[in-house]
Amino acid sequence: MSPVQRFTAKVEKIEQLTHDVRQIDLELIDPARIEFKAGQFVSFEVPDARTGRTVTRPYSIASSPGSPHVISLLLNLVPGGPGSTYLFGLREGDTAAFAGPAGHFYLREDPARDLLFVATGTGIAPIRSMLMANAERSHPARVVLFWGLRSQRDLYYQDELAAWVKRHPENSFLTTLSRPEPGWAGMTGRVTQLVQERVGDVSRLAVYLCGNSGMIKDVTGLIQAKGLCPIFREKYYDDAGEGQAD
Ligand SMILES: Cc1cc2nc3c(=O)[nH]c(=O)nc-3n(C[C@H](O)[C@H](O)[C@H](O)COP(=O)(O)OP(=O)(O)OC[C@H]3O[C@@H](n4cnc5c(N)ncnc54)[C@H](O)[C@@H]3O)c2cc1C
Ligand SMILES: NC(=O)c1ccc[n+]([C@@H]2O[C@H](COP(=O)([O-])OP(=O)(O)OC[C@H]3O[C@@H](n4cnc5c(N)ncnc54)[C@H](OP(=O)(O)O)[C@@H]3O)[C@@H](O)[C@H]2O)c1
Repeated sequence: MSPVQRFTAKVEKIEQLTHDVRQIDLELIDPARIEFKAGQFVSFEVPDARTGRTVTRPYSIASSPGSPHVISLLLNLVPGGPGSTYLFGLREGDTAAFAGPAGHFYLREDPARDLLFVATGTGIAPIRSMLMANAERSHPARVVLFWGLRSQRDLYYQDELAAWVKRHPENSFLTTLSRPEPGWAGMTGRVTQLVQERVGDVSRLAVYLCGNSGMIKDVTGLIQAKGLCPIFREKYYDDAGEGQAD
């Protein structure tokens, strides 16, 4: 496992993906490269205006370990939240400091298993890195991805995922909307429903879950009811409002 280091980086590019989600690309300055495993996160120390103290907030790396000079972060704006307010305040050309990489939610080397990824919201971030890392392997595992968002205005990365499946047709992804506006012809409901209805034998699967705690708890229960397989989980936040990594 790579040791945790401190980094400075320049904000190379900011892309607004939806009304409240953006991708930030950070070009590493010092050190000039970061070694990490797909799925790991970096942490920012930011001021909390509510208490006057400094708080630490982790963010998954959403890009491939094969691109060590520039990393992407995927951010959801939480109004009034110190971490997301700080990161949403960054502009192209700004410098930022962070520590990392860290975390045990990373893509394992297990060529015998197909991969099932389940994400809600920005929980897609570490999974995006894993999809890229898997695709770059000499013998990529077969992948199924289920992603749950609320409504059409929350959709992003759909073209990128479609292009990924076109390049690797053995893989598939389904994005399901829990609160679609009229006119949506895709899947509706929560990802739990997809897992319940579309996942059969799990004995040759490795399962990776990332997003809110309710989804992780519910999907873990559904998978375990279907059989025995490794389940790796990253909880971003729960109903009590505190994020934590498993
Ligand atoms: C290991 C790990 C990796 C994470 N990676 C990411 C990431 O890649 N992208 C990301 O946006 N967040 C990520 N998070 C969540 C992130 O660390 C912060 O908790 C989040 O940005 C809110 O922090 P804040 O200080 O802005 O708000 P706070 O004042 O701490 O507000 C917390 C509340 O915001 C809500 N919330 C927390 N996280 C999110 C979220 N992602 N989307 C929507 N609402 C949220 C919840 O209701 C929570 O109760 C990760 C969390 C963990 C534990
Ligand atoms: N995105 C928005 O438009 C919006 C608007 C206002 C406030 N917020 C706040 O922002 C935060 C995050 O919003 P978000 O939409 O990114 O993430 P989210 O609330 O975690 O929802 C993302 C997806 O996860 C689903 N989900 C929730 N619990 C689940 C479970 N137990 N099993 C399976 N799926 C589950 C949601 O379905 P359900 O829709 O059925 O819950 C939704 O489809 C929340 O604190 C939210 O209150 C978001």
